[in-house]
Amino acid sequence: MATQPYALITGASSGIGKALAFELARRKINVLLVALPNTGLSDVVKQLGDTFDIVSHGIELDLTIAQAPAILHSWCVKNHFEVNILINNAGFGNLCSFEQTDPMLISSMINLNSKAMVMLTHQFIPELKKFDKSYILNVGSLASFMPIPNKSVYAATKSFVYAFSYALRLELEPHGISVSCLCPGATLTSTHVNEGISKLKVGKNFIQLPESVAHTAVDGMMKNKFRIIPGLHNRILYFIRQVLPETGVRWILLRIFSRQKVDKPITKKRYPKPAWSLAPLDGWLK
Ligand SMILES: NC(=O)c1ccc[n+]([C@@H]2O[C@H](COP(=O)([O-])OP(=O)(O)OC[C@H]3O[C@@H](n4cnc5c(N)ncnc54)[C@H](OP(=O)(O)O)[C@@H]3O)[C@@H](O)[C@H]2O)c1
Repeated sequence: MATQPYALITGASSGIGKALAFELARRKINVLLVALPNTGLSDVVKQLGDTFDIVSHGIELDLTIAQAPAILHSWCVKNHFEVNILINNAGFGNLCSFEQTDPMLISSMINLNSKAMVMLTHQFIPELKKFDKSYILNVGSLASFMPIPNKSVYAATKSFVYAFSYALRLELEPHGISVSCLCPGATLTSTHVNEGISKLKVGKNFIQLPESVAHTAVDGMMKNKFRIIPGLHNRILYFIRQVLPETGVRWILLRIFSRQKVDKPITKKRYPKPAWSLAPLDGWLK
């Protein structure tokens, strides 16, 4: 009997990626997991296989290297792993002024959050097209909807994820491939992420657990939703962001993300209004 197809999940050794793997396994979907070397991926693969009646495999790979999509693809072909769900989850951010951020970190963030997602998607579209129904879930963030001081590169990469996913959904719809963008708010995952959340003093109603994010994400993806924002408070925040005038958005962003700069005069020149917005198109998609 041919093996059931797999969901390929990047960044699955911890956090939201690991929770997504468990959520899919619970729904009896086989999983292929990708994470950096020596980060406990094999333990996660084993735990999944032991707990659920599914097949799971893992590959340790740095997705920021140019050959990563080709390596992943040949791994799948060689082992006859057919992929009908691609989840681009691996990503990271920081909380630091742009000027003081190490250029290597900036480059790596752009490579992982944006470039790796695009190139991996490009590599796997022919595989996804082999099925009547396939899914791509790209992990953005609430930061996809707002430029954020002291998280400027991160927020920009996540805006990229959202805009790319939006257009790709329209391109791939006729081929039976559903593209969704998961936009979580603050989620307790790794120590590094949790420290950032506590520094920002995010209200507890806005903080979520990865398991709950993963549950909403997989539900939304299966229902062919485009924008998936887990948590009622985060959905309200998104709505407020869409209707609030730019001056209000700027005031809030400065208070939350760069408290030390709040007292300085803010001029229109320093924070120009974005030249474009996706907001008017939002009603088009579920
Ligand atoms: N947590 C939040 O508050 C939050 C909010 C909005 C959006 N997100 C997004 O959700 C996604 C997951 O975040 P998370 O908080 O769950 O992070 P996490 O716990 O740090 O997990 C990130 C995963 O990505 C993997 N990874 C990192 N660099 C990689 C690389 N170069 N190649 C391959 N894998 C790599 C990590 O592997 P290792 O364990 O080996 O490093 C880990 O499995 C990210 O895209 C993030 O931007 C998170």
